[in-house]
Parts: sequence; C-alpha cells; structure tokens
Amino acid sequence: MLVGPDTDDLAELYAAPGDRPWLRVNMVSTVDGAATGDSGRSGSINNAADKRVFDHLRATADVIVVGAGTARTEGYGPADRPIVVVSRRDEVPEGLRGAPPGSVLVEPLGDAAGFRRRLVDRGWTRILCEGGPSLLHDLLRGGVVDELCTTTVPRLVGGPGPRIVAGPALDVPLRLHTLLEVDGTLLARWLV
Ligand SMILES: NC(=O)c1ccc[n+]([C@@H]2O[C@H](COP(=O)([O-])OP(=O)(O)OC[C@H]3O[C@@H](n4cnc5c(N)ncnc54)[C@H](OP(=O)(O)O)[C@@H]3O)[C@@H](O)[C@H]2O)c1
Repeated sequence: MLVGPDTDDLAELYAAPGDRPWLRVNMVSTVDGAATGDSGRSGSINNAADKRVFDHLRATADVIVVGAGTARTEGYGPADRPIVVVSRRDEVPEGLRGAPPGSVLVEPLGDAAGFRRRLVDRGWTRILCEGGPSLLHDLLRGGVVDELCTTTVPRLVGGPGPRIVAGPALDVPLRLHTLLEVDGTLLARWLV
C-alpha cells in the first residue's frame, strides 16, 4: 500500500491484532541508515510525519518500553502511560525521577521471553518499544518482537551515527505489512 495517511487513517493503518499480545518497536532513520543526526539524538532526524506516527503508537500502547541509554540521551520525561526502562542498573533516569509512583519501572531484560511475559501478566498486552538500538538487538535476538515500525526520512547525514540495530550480527527476515509515503518520508510496518 502506498498512500499519504490522514491522522484519522492511522488507527486503521497501524491497528495491531486485538486477539493476542503484540510487541512493536518504533524506530526512525535517514536514507543512509543513521539513527541519529549530529546532536546524537533521533530528534535531529525525525520530522512531522514521524512524530505523528510516534504519538499515535504511544496513544494506542498499554506500556512504553525503552532502553536506559535512550531514556538518558533523549531526556525522557513522564508519559501518560507506564514506562518500563530496561537497564542493568537499579537507577531511574534523571528525567523520569519526578514521575508519579508506580508509573516508571526499571528492570533488566534478562531472558527476553520472560520479560515480555511479565509485561503481559501485568495486563500490558499492547507493548511499544521505542528503542534504542542495543535494546532492539536484544529483543530481536530473544525472538520477542512481533512488528518493527520504521520511519525513513528523506535525508542523508553521513557521520558516525548508529543504525537502528546495534550489537553482534543478526539475520532477522522481515515481511512488509504496510508502506506509506508522506512528502518523501517512508513509514513502514514490518512483521518479524
Ligand atoms: N532512531 C531511533 O529511532 C532511535 C530510537 C532510540 C534511540 N536512538 C538513539 O540511540 C542512541 C542510544 O543507543 P543505545 O543502543 O545506547 O540505546 P538503548 O538500547 O536505549 O540503551 C542501551 C542501554 O539500555 C540498557 N539495556 C539495553 N539492552 C539491555 C539488556 N539486554 N539488558 C539490560 N539493559 C539493557 C543498558 O542500560 P544501563 O547502562 O542503564 O544498564 C544499556 O546501556 C541514542 O543516540 C538515541 O538517541 C535512536
């Protein structure tokens, strides 16, 4: 499918299966594969189309999962749904320290299937992971990702920026579910 979505279309275009838990990861990169721009943050490469999907995916998730590196680098603050920060340290990232009690959890990933199971057992069946690249690697290696949502922004930035997956080599086949185009930005849903 190749269309330019209106906001109203996003609910249908990004609908996740309602009959089972679903873990999706949302990432943005440039055409040359950079996951950050010169600021070292994804905020220097994303754009309005990406932001619209980012907000929609948050609004339809039960829980946000994020690597501690991303929470620290991107300065994560409280959201209107629970945030699980994946970390090997027992330390809440600075921007999340004022969050309402219970709304931010810090947990190691450990066994990825067990981690996912614990989220589902809390009633969080629509799980949105916002990266970053190291956490995405480990979730893929653990075989617990159902869907990868990607935004490819129409820019080339060169430089040393990371890709959306970091770490040892993997080979994960993907199946294209949906491809949208908005002013040159490509928004895709890939089934893992
Ligand atoms: N383009 C995008 O869509 C996008 C999305 C997110 C982030 N980013 C960018 O990616 C960069 C950060 O990359 P990153 O790879 O460091 O991010 P990350 O995966 O969010 O953070 C890595 C940190 O998360 C924790 N972590 C990750 N995997 C873990 C595991 N299996 N078990 C326990 N803890 C684990 C560790 O935290 P502790 O050190 O606390 O133990 C680790 O140091 C930033 O520049 C950010 O802006 C880009």
